[in-house]
Amino acid sequence: MKIVRTASRAAQICGVAGRPLVLVPTMGALHAGHLSLMRKARKLAGNTGTVAVSIFVNPAQFGPKEDLSRYPRPFARDCRLCAAAGVDVVFHPAPDEMYGAGYSTYVDEERVSRVLCGKSRPGHFRGVCTVVLKLFNIVGPDAAVFGEKDYQQVAVIRRMAWDLNLACRIVTAPTVREADGLALSSRNAFLSPEERAQAPVIRRALLRARDADNKRPGGLARLARREIATARLAKIEYVEVLDADTLEKPGPGTRELVIACAVHFGRTRLIDNVRRTVR
Ligand code: PAJ
Repeated sequence: MKIVRTASRAAQICGVAGRPLVLVPTMGALHAGHLSLMRKARKLAGNTGTVAVSIFVNPAQFGPKEDLSRYPRPFARDCRLCAAAGVDVVFHPAPDEMYGAGYSTYVDEERVSRVLCGKSRPGHFRGVCTVVLKLFNIVGPDAAVFGEKDYQQVAVIRRMAWDLNLACRIVTAPTVREADGLALSSRNAFLSPEERAQAPVIRRALLRARDADNKRPGGLARLARREIATARLAKIEYVEVLDADTLEKPGPGTRELVIACAVHFGRTRLIDNVRRTVR
């Protein structure tokens, strides 16, 4: 496995003409969720293709009051996990390599990024789109793999890829969970034992809304909110039920709903989602 830190070197060594090149963008602090994306990438790339993983804690997607400085960076461990997962190239640029002096160009998706997490994290998806487009341009992948846990992130990236005519195929992989249902996240490590014990309420609430007989989006959201509120330490940021394709308010043409939420436990913000077909 090769580890590269500069954009020019990454561009040089990533990919062999005629063989698939698949990228898994990450911010490191890797867990089994990330590893499942790498396995999917390995399958897509086949034995002769290349799997590249980027590890970059992207300052552009963190707000001024967010956890950029305390975001975990266990790089040596991450490299061992990548090597064991059959990754060929790890791209690990320094912040200056990605955003040099005078950097002033950003990509802003203006519709899908404005709901859900976009409301409380203004500029977040602008940072995500910018870094993802830069990574695509540097590495030049045929496909890139993203997790369904960050449902809105995938929707925004798909929109960007379509709008900007990107050649890279956007592939998704299901959310990997702890045995009690909590979605794996690098941020779970910040939960106190008591917060950790209560956090699975998120999954329970979403499943309850998914499986309820009630068919109205408002009713489903209320049901989930009520369940989450039973956990003393949970502070709901949002629970919303939207059209899973457009992330707009469900309408007569809606075939599938996404029930998405963001919940705070102390200083830790957790997100999760579930989909429900319209019957
Ligand atoms: P990060 O949070 O490191 O996540 C990297 C990828 O792993 C994302 O596609 C995310 O959806 C996926 N992922 C996280 N937890 C998962 C889980 N429990 N199961 C399955 N997949 C999971 O998302 C980012 O980084 C950044 O915004 C990035 C796209 C790298 C741009 O900076």
